[in-house]
Parts: sequence; C-alpha cells; structure tokens
Amino acid sequence: MRLSRYFLPVLKETPAEAQIASHRLMLRAGMIKQASAGIYSWLPLGYRVLRNIERIVHEEQQRAGHIPVLMPTLQSADLWRESGRYDAYGPEMLRIRDRHDRDMLYGPTNEEMITDIFRSHVSSYKDLPMTLYHIQWKFRDEVRPRFGVMRGREFLMKDGYNFDLTKEDALHAYNRHLVSYLRTYERMGLQAIPMRADSGPIGGDDTHEFLVLAETGESEVFYDSEITDLKFGDREIDYDSVQQCQSVLEEFTSRYARTDETHDPAIFDQIPEDRRRVARGIEVGQIFYFGTKYSEAMGATVQGPDGKATPVHMGSHGIGVSRLVGALIEANHDDKGIVWPWEVAPFQVGIVNVKQGDATADAACDALYKELTAAGLEVLYDDREERAGAKFATMDLIGLPKRITVGPRGLEKGVVELTDRRTGESEEIKPELVAAALT
Ligand SMILES: Nc1ncnc2c1ncn2[C@@H]1O[C@H](COP(=O)(O)OP(=O)(O)OP(=O)(O)O)[C@@H](O)[C@H]1O
Ligand SMILES: [Mg+2]
Repeated sequence: MRLSRYFLPVLKETPAEAQIASHRLMLRAGMIKQASAGIYSWLPLGYRVLRNIERIVHEEQQRAGHIPVLMPTLQSADLWRESGRYDAYGPEMLRIRDRHDRDMLYGPTNEEMITDIFRSHVSSYKDLPMTLYHIQWKFRDEVRPRFGVMRGREFLMKDGYNFDLTKEDALHAYNRHLVSYLRTYERMGLQAIPMRADSGPIGGDDTHEFLVLAETGESEVFYDSEITDLKFGDREIDYDSVQQCQSVLEEFTSRYARTDETHDPAIFDQIPEDRRRVARGIEVGQIFYFGTKYSEAMGATVQGPDGKATPVHMGSHGIGVSRLVGALIEANHDDKGIVWPWEVAPFQVGIVNVKQGDATADAACDALYKELTAAGLEVLYDDREERAGAKFATMDLIGLPKRITVGPRGLEKGVVELTDRRTGESEEIKPELVAAALT
C-alpha cells in the first residue's frame, strides 16, 4: 500500500475523551471513529488488525476441530422466551419491534439460536461431539461504554458452543477450548491467564476467564506469580486426546489465579508471600460448561446408544475479538505509539522515503516495495511529500514492527536502514538483503 493513496487519518492532538492509552492511540492512529456511544466504525488500519485477529481465531478454532457458521445479529424474542432469558436478561439487551409488532432483539450472545439449530437437525448421539462457532457482532447496552473498543456496546465476539452426549465429553470440550485459547492468545503475542471466574447470566459452575494483565484492566485479579512463567509454546497437541487436553488444563489451572468474584483470601494466603500478586486484568475470553440448562429448556435431545432421548450437555466459549485490539495495544505500546506484535500488525513493514522526488531514492523504494510485497510481506510505503521527521512520527505511532529508511546518502554507500520498532535498534543493510532479513 502506498500511503499517498491510502486513508490513514492520524490525529495530531491527543483526543481529550480517551482515558487510556489504547483508546487514545487507536483514535490518534486513525484506526476507529466513534459513531455513537460505544459504537465504532473501523477505519482501514484498524480493520486490518481486526481481520488479522479474526484470522488467527478462525485458524485456531478449526485446528481444534470446531466448525464455523454465521448466525444473524437480530434474533426473535420467542427463542429467548423458551429459555426464560427474555425476561431475565435485563436492560443490557437491546429490544426491537418490527413492523408486524414482533419482538426482536440484537443478540448479546447466541445460546438459544444455536440450540434451536441443533435441535432442528441433530437427533442421534452418533453426530456428536460437535462444536459450532461464529464470529459475529453482538450488542449489549452497557451502562457505561468506555475505553473505546474495550467496553463497547456493539462489539465483535467469537462465540462457540459444544454439544456432547455426556458431562464427561462436554468437559473434554471445555478443556479443548482452554487449550485452543492458550494457543490463540500466544499466537497474537499476548499472555492471557486462565482464572477461575463467576458465570453470570450464562449460568453454570465450571468457568474460566482469560485475563491479560494491565494496569488499566477493569477486573481485579489475584494470582500466584509462578503462573506468569507458564508458556504454551509450540507444543503439538492432539485435540481428540482427553488426557493431553486435561493435562494442559491441570498445568495452567493448578496455581492460584482468580478474579475478585471468586477470590478466596483464606486459600490465597497459603501461597508464599513473595509470590502473591494483586493486579488488574482485561478479560479477553471466557469458557463455560453449563450442562443441560438450555438443552432441557429447549428440548435439544439426542437418541443415546440405549435408544433413549437425552438432553445434550453444552458449554459456550467466547473470545472478545474487537476488545483484543485494545488489549493488544495496552500490552504493546510506548510513549511514541503502538508496537504491534508481528502476527497482528496491520502491515509488517513500513518504508520511509526520506527524500521523495529524488530519482534514486524513489527508484530504490519502488524496487524494495515490489520485492517485499512479492515475498509475501504486507508493506506500507510512505511515499508522501512530507518531512522525514513527520514520516518517522507516523510510523512510530502506527507501530509497524519493521521500518526501512531509504535516502540518497545511504544509497550512495549502497545501504538502507532497517529499524526494529520494539527495540529501536537500527542496522545498515544492502537493499537486496532486506527481504531475506525479514522472511
Ligand atoms: N462490552 C464489551 N465490549 C467489548 N468486548 C466485550 C464486551 N463484553 C464482553 N466482551 C468480550 O466478549 C467475551 C465473551 O463475553 P462474556 O459473555 O464472557 O462477557 P462478560 O463476561 O459479560 O464481559 P465483561 O465482564 O467484561 O462485561 C469477553 O471475555 C470479552 O472479551
Ligand atoms: Mg465473561
């Protein structure tokens, strides 16, 4: 992408309404524009990051054997009356009436709708286990939408639902989700810690939230410092193996890590004092096992091996896709701007031409741009007629992992400069070696 032809509306001033770094930086870097309270348009740069996060979530879900679908945002109230949640949900649900006076709602979550799909088409235990998921916009009429996309009213969520014959199978699905979530967040360059949590309006007993530690997080968390040393890494896992998934769950949940809702000081105080941590975190996901709560209420049964109809055991599992954009920035920024991890960066490489209009510099930039793009990298070439200082400031603000600086002086010596956004370190390198250095 050539910046002269792109749409990157960066702001010079720090917007006064933004209280936390990620919100300020998303506005300043031209990633989002507020449409109304808690509702945002995604501008080109922000949209690229959102898509990258979605892609990783899709890949990791499908790696775990989960099947993508897409359900609508608008739902009929009748389904929610069947489960009893139409009345129970409260003012966070946006209720709508259509022209025929039918009650509709903008879905805050999809347990009812997926259970309806399941009961319409599946009737035998032989079709199980099954996990369906989608990535779709949700609406929750939050009392205090704030912190930009972190607590929006309209937000993008991955929500997945498992259907199993027995509680045991459903707990395997729970563990499988925990493992796949660990992989998902790590691939984005994030550490998200599974913590025991409270189930809220979804219902059920078994639930973990995934929290990214950050001072600006809305949840208070209590944990054993040993937990932050755990890494999932690049281990191979067989998602069908009950034993493998169970042992990952045990490894990642055996140390104390809880949100304030389930915090138990008596247990916490048994941890050696130097390992006790009280901090804040951003919830980027949650997994639940809730058994037959919805299947019983809505008649989602399968015929078991014994020929008897039994309600399926279910769980639901969410990832805050749009919130992750903010959480990633909270965890990756400095005083100059965003510092994107490679996997989610809107572009991996920025080219800065410090002397636009100089024939040699322009030709060298064009050649690099073509070569890097052909090598499969996503490149943003700042080809504007701008001062070098302004170009550097923009690159630092939008946080691309690598910057290549091209100017007549370096080219005379046969080199360009390659700079790492995170460390700030630069090296001189021959232009023809850049592609190899980055791939
Ligand atoms: N208002 C929101 N804005 C952005 N993301 C959200 C919002 N509410 C929930 N999410 C994301 O969706 C994920 C799954 O939804 P879940 O039903 O667990 O949310 P929740 O527990 O109600 O969230 P919270 O406690 O933050 O209100 C959450 O872990 C979070 O990352
Ligand atoms: Mg939650």
